[in-house]
Amino acid sequence: MTKARITIDRDFTIGEVPRRLFGSFVEHMGRCVYTGIYEPGHPEADENGFRRDVLALTKELGATVIRYPGGNFVSGYNWEDGVGPVAARPRRLDGAWHTVETNAFGLHEFVDWSKLAGTEIMEAVNLGTRGVDAARELVEYANHPGGTYLSDLRKKNGSADPFDIKLWCLGNELDGPWQIGHKTAHEYGRLAQEAAKAMRFVDPSIELVAVGSSGSGMPTFGEWEHTVLSHAYDEVDYVSMHAYYQEEDGDAKSFLATAVDTDRFIDSVVSTVDAVKAKGRHKKVVNLSFDEWNVWYQRGLDTDDQPHNVGKTWREHPRLIEDTYNVTDAVVVGTLLNSLLRHGDRVKIANQAQLVNVIAPIRAEENGPAWRQSIFWPFARMAALARGQILRTAVTSDRFESDKFGDVDVVDVSATWDEDNGRVALFLANRGLEEAADVEVSLRGFVGGRVIRAEVLDVPDGADRFAANTLENQDQVGLRPLPGVAVNGGTASLTLPALSWSVVEFEVIKA
Ligand code: AHR
Repeated sequence: MTKARITIDRDFTIGEVPRRLFGSFVEHMGRCVYTGIYEPGHPEADENGFRRDVLALTKELGATVIRYPGGNFVSGYNWEDGVGPVAARPRRLDGAWHTVETNAFGLHEFVDWSKLAGTEIMEAVNLGTRGVDAARELVEYANHPGGTYLSDLRKKNGSADPFDIKLWCLGNELDGPWQIGHKTAHEYGRLAQEAAKAMRFVDPSIELVAVGSSGSGMPTFGEWEHTVLSHAYDEVDYVSMHAYYQEEDGDAKSFLATAVDTDRFIDSVVSTVDAVKAKGRHKKVVNLSFDEWNVWYQRGLDTDDQPHNVGKTWREHPRLIEDTYNVTDAVVVGTLLNSLLRHGDRVKIANQAQLVNVIAPIRAEENGPAWRQSIFWPFARMAALARGQILRTAVTSDRFESDKFGDVDVVDVSATWDEDNGRVALFLANRGLEEAADVEVSLRGFVGGRVIRAEVLDVPDGADRFAANTLENQDQVGLRPLPGVAVNGGTASLTLPALSWSVVEFEVIKA
């Protein structure tokens, strides 16, 4: 049996839970928009063509902020194509995903859908093929109250009130050679600086995210952030990070240790940002927006799933990267969320990529059902219950050896304390493939009381760690009650099954 001891202390807090950590991402890619959130003619479609079943699952998932409209897509997108009478909107080739974009769904539709979903909008501007002018015009169209050509055009197109979009991404992955309009760090840094200035001239209240590296493995990682921020530090509020992980060559241990990489990636970006701050004698702090993250089985993809896909047929909303997630993936996603939460003092925004069908917690078949993937559960529970203060967690755990990340704690945890409802929530992963883990939690500054919730996601009876929810078997992997959780005064004890993700919520009073 694995052993772990966790200590939390009421006075040792990391900061308030940034609710934008539970963000998601809707890109015009594959079947995320078309036949994902939007499918006129589907039996569940409302009068706007929005799928009610997907909307209900989005609400249950609890996503707080949704990045739109891309991704690689945005780097070749004209936002004007997606507004105005639908019949007059142009059909365009989307070079990012080798897709025909009908533009039946655009900004107004996304704003309407977001209102129904109860989610904040994080809008990306095209700094690939376009620049300062299109970016500031989009802000004027979206946020200016009226009395100018663009704000009046928005009214004419059906929205009298401004959209009031606060959060804006200054492009997407422009460090990547695959990106339409790929740039050097100097080129991008200057462009981001000027676009930010011009966008703020229109609406000074907006928050801006500069493009960081597309991954920590990029050859320009570090240098990119340093150069971009050397130009744009004063103009931006956040720098972005992207990371995708997968199990490779059956190396489950390294895959389960992946959050170590996330921790290191975040620490490196924080160091780089702060070095620019110090050198430039800046006062303000630039924070981090981890605006694409997830498990993504990128290697061994069918060529249909590759970006650009040059030479193939141009298609509308093809099936792209519709990964099916298993129990192991859900445990990894739980640990990635733990890493984000533990860094909530600097990571203020995070978006799991993407919301539906495309590497997503929700799957939806055209003219068919929608269901929750295994990775839905850790996200949904953390989005619902991680509130109030993030608590530091001191962990002494048995460890395991992983080829990629060395020695790693078997038990991974994050914790929050919501003073308003008097509850502590613990989010725990047992990364051990074989053994259950006995966990003792020492509560300092708290007296623990009634257990409100104890749930676990683990390998279903008679299945293995690759068990997943599918069209045919939509509820094979989910949460079940976690038995035997005891909270007694200053201690809580629980047993986590092998390869599992758990949530435990209990009442506390101050000691
Ligand atoms: O989320 C899928 C793609 O991954 C996005 O379009 C791009 O930004 C990233 O490379």
